[in-house]
Formats: sequence, structure tokens, C-alpha cells
Amino acid sequence: MVHGKVYLVGAGPGDPKLLTVKAVELLKEADVVIYDRLVGEQILNLAPVKAEKIYVGKRTGKHEVPQNKITELIIEKAQTGGNVVRLKGGDPFVFGRGGEEAEALVEKGIAFEVVPGVSSSVAAPMYAGIPLTHRDYAASVAIITGHRAGDAEKPINWAKIADAVDTMVILMGVESLDGIVNKLLEGGVSPNKPVAIIESGTYPQQRTLINILGNIVKDAEKKQIKPPAVIVIGEVANLGRKLAWFKKPLS
Ligand SMILES: C[S@@+](CC[C@H](N)C(=O)[O-])C[C@H]1O[C@@H](n2cnc3c(N)ncnc32)[C@H](O)[C@@H]1O
Repeated sequence: MVHGKVYLVGAGPGDPKLLTVKAVELLKEADVVIYDRLVGEQILNLAPVKAEKIYVGKRTGKHEVPQNKITELIIEKAQTGGNVVRLKGGDPFVFGRGGEEAEALVEKGIAFEVVPGVSSSVAAPMYAGIPLTHRDYAASVAIITGHRAGDAEKPINWAKIADAVDTMVILMGVESLDGIVNKLLEGGVSPNKPVAIIESGTYPQQRTLINILGNIVKDAEKKQIKPPAVIVIGEVANLGRKLAWFKKPLS
């Protein structure tokens, strides 16, 4: 049986101009596009009008489509032939579950390619003028999920990571910010450590909050910081005060 091919494609962090040339080419040739919540309309519209576009992200008030159902759908569409573009926010292999989908495709013997995307973990700080490494302040970086903050079975040792690396980049951390900050403070991390939160990075509505660990929770509440946001903890966060360059584009 001849199957179609699946492309696990990164859509970048939001700004459509951060899409890769390869992603644009594949979208233009797509027969089916299966896409997530953080993929914008402008990017989706690059696919032909006749292409089938299937949304599998979270809907307001509803749960996400379970991962096994998404994987089944990708396989089903690939088995009917044609080019299936599985489009994910940022990079497909950075907290994008692209690895799980690739494993399922290998199991079914379906050909696939992975197209890296510009990850929000680096792009959002960059758009806020925050380099994750810097010769004077940071020689190491860790990218961590905040999603597991309350998971007793797979706990993250926040204080140990803070001790081991200079810059911590946390995705999916806004809702558990309080818990993460408490774990860091309890673990002996200085309350004066700089923290930046970049909300809606690379979008026209991007906002950045810079404060110290001891005050960040209150400040984030006051400014009503919402997902999607990237949290950067480390000395480099302060550089955002000096190097902020992104201006809301004129409409
Ligand atoms: C499921 S993860 C996917 C990450 C994605 N694969 C990547 O490489 O950017 C979703 C999280 O990415 C972060 N994120 C994605 N887009 C963002 C953006 N434009 N600005 C800030 N954070 C973003 C947020 O932390 C969000 O909760």
C-alpha cells in the first residue's frame, strides 16, 4: 500500500515572518493540515483553499483532543495518500509532542520528515531583548516545562536546576508560577534573582515584565499576565531593560 508522507512542521512562535522557507513550501503543497492552537490564521492560509484543515488544539471550555486521537488522525490521513502537514507552534520537538508522533509513524511504516521551527523558548526572550547566553552572565541554559509543577509522580527539582544552570527558560509556566517560585525560594535561590516573563512573544501585542524572583508573582498577577508566555530566570533577564527593541508594528 502506498502511503502519503507526513511532515512534522514547526510554525514558529507567532510572527508569520518567522516561518521557515521549507515550512512555506510544504504548506503550499499540503493536501491535509492538522494544526494546533498556537498556529495563526495567516500561516494556515498559506495552504491551498482545497486542502483539508483540521484543528486539534484546545477549544475554550473544552478539553484538548487527546494525543492518541491526534496520532490516529495523522496516520489515517497519511494512509489515504497525499501530503499531510502536522503543524505545531514553535518547534515540533520542543515540548511539542512531535517525538511521540514520529514514533507512531515509524511503528506504522509511514514516511515522515521533521521541519524545525523557531521555538518560542528562544524567540520570545529574543524579541524582548534577552539573550539566553552572554559571556558575562550565562554559559548554560535549561528549557523546562512548568506543566508538571504539581505532578507528584514526575516532580521537577527546581532548586537543583537553578543551581546547575545560569538561565532557566520555563514554558507553560504562567499558571503554576506561584508554585515554581516557592520551590525555588524554599530551595535557597536568592529572592533577588532577576526574572522576565514575555507574554505573546513576537506577536504585535507582546508584553514583557521584568522583576526579581521575590516580587514576580505579585507583579504578574497585577499586570494580569496570561499564557502563552515564556519565563526567563537568571541574570540575563535584566538585559531586557537595556536591549528591548521590539516595537508594536504600525497597523
Ligand atoms: C506546548 S508548548 C509548545 C512549545 C513550542 N513547541 C515551541 O517550541 O515554542 C506551549 C508553550 O510555549 C510557549 N509559547 C508558545 N508560543 C509563545 C509565544 N508566542 N510567546 C510566549 N510563549 C509562547 C508558552 O509557554 C506556551 O505555554
